[in-house]
Amino acid sequence: MSQTSQRNPSAPLNIVILAAGMGKRMHSDLPKMLHTLAGRPLLAHVLDAARALSPTKIIVVTGHRADEVRKVAAAPDVVFVNQSPQLGTGHAVQQALPELTPGGKTLVLLGDVPLIQAATLKPLIEGAVNRVSMLTAVLDNPHGYGRVVRDARKKVKCVVEQKDANGAQLKIREINTGIFAYPTVRLGGWLGKLKNNNAQREYYVTDLVPMAIRDRVPVEGVVCEDAAQVEGINNRAQLSQLERVYQQRNANKLMEQGVAIADPARIDVRGELTCGKDVFIDVGCVFEGKVTLADGVRLGAHCVLNNVAIGMATRIEPFTHMVEANIGANCILGPYARIRPGTQLSDEVHIGNFVEVKASEIGFASKVNHLTYIGDSSVGKNCNIGAGTITCNYDGAFKHRTVIEDDVHIGSDVQLVAPVTVARGTTVGAGTTVWKNTPPEGLILNTKTQLHRADWKRPVKKSKA
Ligand code: UD1
Ligand code: MG
Repeated sequence: MSQTSQRNPSAPLNIVILAAGMGKRMHSDLPKMLHTLAGRPLLAHVLDAARALSPTKIIVVTGHRADEVRKVAAAPDVVFVNQSPQLGTGHAVQQALPELTPGGKTLVLLGDVPLIQAATLKPLIEGAVNRVSMLTAVLDNPHGYGRVVRDARKKVKCVVEQKDANGAQLKIREINTGIFAYPTVRLGGWLGKLKNNNAQREYYVTDLVPMAIRDRVPVEGVVCEDAAQVEGINNRAQLSQLERVYQQRNANKLMEQGVAIADPARIDVRGELTCGKDVFIDVGCVFEGKVTLADGVRLGAHCVLNNVAIGMATRIEPFTHMVEANIGANCILGPYARIRPGTQLSDEVHIGNFVEVKASEIGFASKVNHLTYIGDSSVGKNCNIGAGTITCNYDGAFKHRTVIEDDVHIGSDVQLVAPVTVARGTTVGAGTTVWKNTPPEGLILNTKTQLHRADWKRPVKKSKA
């Protein structure tokens, strides 16, 4: 036992995450690690699983487009090492050697295996001070993976990559997940002996298996029953399949908590969705960032909500798009409403079809029901804003605020030229352009004259003949 592990009853745990590869099979300009699953880079998911094990150290191996990959993983508890050129998974682990805390065990995770869970990894690392543990899985379609070759007594012998396998080996359905735990003290010696005499001319980390066996270090293959957790993403089809697995599992969790989901195959949560009791979510809704739905909220089909909090019993009708907004209780929004950043709606507010609201507060029980733009505004309570009202907030250089006080009624097709205040209780007649502050109460109208010309004739096209 090393000095460190003698001092520390729980031996140090290093976690090395391999993230240097380019991801050729994605056919993308974006490094594979930065492709997103549930709205987050693949690597971020693996880091979550790593952190949940409270390791002594997390080391991420980057290489291809390292700067971009490091940006998304940068954190005080993450150390980066560089691998360039990328000569294979064994070569990648080798680059992490100088950073390993001596003694204890080292867990190697792959940055392209995003659904792995800490609970699956715990049994793997438990005994790894004295043995090598390899996480395996039995897949219906093992194509592309390294196959686990066992001897007559079912003991692990080696791993053969798809490209190096013979006909009989290709039929093996037990695959290497790429996730291993090793006694740290052994790694340096074994990695130093790796050769690249294989089909891909790469240094395979999987070749450590026969080396361990030769050195009489037991190698244990631990089968993971939940295949999706260990599936690797090498191409876009695999990425989309795992996205659906993630979404279905997340939907199941929400339903277990009491959320009614019209179709768990048609919901996308790309962040954190927190729901109260008796929330109903219709098909095709997308949630991004932090979204909170209070008790009794009902979401219509095909709504997109990004960093939004919605109060009790509010109803959002179909095709409503909301970003960075706070919505009160018992409101009705949509269909086809657009709620932009900085929107604050009090309780019982109605926002109807083709209404856009930005950086505005709207007070209790006010209604903006049709074809309207409310921007940089403050609307009081019990107001009624007529169809086609526009707050003209932009003078070409600066934004200005519109203030609409309590109990104001605004007729159809009104322009409010900011900065302007419509005082309490005012009624604004249809078609008015309000460009001066109004006194409270009364009716505001632009003076216009309606003419009737009895002698007027409609224009008529001349006949061709
Ligand atoms: C690897 C395993 C294979 C296993 C599969 C599981 C080897 C030789 N093969 O194959 O047995 O079934 O994962 O998904 O280990 N990487 C580096 N540097 C490199 C090469 C790769 O950091 O030089 C990283 C990649 O960024 C990726 C991971 O290692 O995150 C796996 O690389 P990939 O090329 O996808 O290996 P597979 O062919 O999937
Ligand atoms: Mg892979």
